[in-house]
Order: sequence, then structure tokens, then C-alpha cells
Amino acid sequence: MRQPRLLQISHLGHPVLREICAPIADVSAPEVQDLIDDMIATCLEANGVGIAAPQVYQPLRLFIVASRPNARYPSAPLMEPTAMLNPSFTPVGDDMEEDWEGCLSIPGLRGRVRRHATIDVSFTDRHGKPQDLRLEGFVARIFQHEYDHIDGRVFTDRAAPASFVMEREFQRMLAAERR
Ligand code: NI
Repeated sequence: MRQPRLLQISHLGHPVLREICAPIADVSAPEVQDLIDDMIATCLEANGVGIAAPQVYQPLRLFIVASRPNARYPSAPLMEPTAMLNPSFTPVGDDMEEDWEGCLSIPGLRGRVRRHATIDVSFTDRHGKPQDLRLEGFVARIFQHEYDHIDGRVFTDRAAPASFVMEREFQRMLAAERR
């Protein structure tokens, strides 16, 4: 197998983060499969819990959900990194939850974002199979954050403006909570 490559991550201000991304026609194309491998490697290396194709300069409807505990998200649940292609979702019920988010494309900033607590999601997996899942809590939050990326939105568009904190203060808050 080809060794995955670490990709450069686009930062807020680059127009690729504001594009409505295009559907992927051929999931089995070698360049799509390589992109998935590279995005997973890039996400894990950067201590992300998800990454969307426009964050590596590719305006495509593809993202990785890769929740696991790490330095940036100490209490994230552990799951296998999952590639989701041409995804869609519908909220289940009216429950909304507010929690902290950050973004590899906006390093150093955290803010509180309201998201649907439970969602039903559909996507094509990397083998071309249609998948339907019910997601809740933190993983549902990651999905909605990444889904925003493929529609040209970022979490700062949705966060409560007075909630923004810088990473160092965020880590100080986490440490205080743990005490
Ligand atoms: Ni992001």
C-alpha cells in the first residue's frame, strides 16, 4: 500500500473554505482513495477529530469523522476514522446542545456552538456502499461541523460571538474542570 502523505491544511481566509463543494462521482477512483488515506493521516497527526476535503484544498463532498481522545479533545469518544462521501443528514427531534468547538482551519480559537443533539445521516462509504447511521452527542456534533465545511461554512459563522476564547485559556479551563 502507498504510504499516506500529510497534507497542508487550508486556513480561514482561503476561498476554498467558502465553496459549495461538488459531489464525488467515482468513489473508487485512485485519486479519491489516496485523498481519503491522506486526509485520515493529516487529521490524526493534527489532533483533529474530523477533517473535510476543502480543509486540504479539495472542494469535494467528502469528510472524515475520527473521534478519539487527544490533546485538543481529551474527552472525545474513540471510533475508527470513517470517510463519509456525498453525505446528508436530518435532525431527529428538536433537541439542541451547546458545546465547545475548534477547527484545524482556525487554529487557536474555540467557541460555543449550538447543534442538533441527534441526527440521522446517510453517506457513501469508501467502498461505495450506502450507509445510514443515527449519531448523537459529540459525534453528531463533529458530523454537523464537517458538513458545514462542504457547504462553505465554518464554526465561527454559528458560534455565540461572546463565547470565543483562545486555545491557552481553553486549556486552562479544561485543567480547572479536571481538578
Ligand atoms: Ni473545521
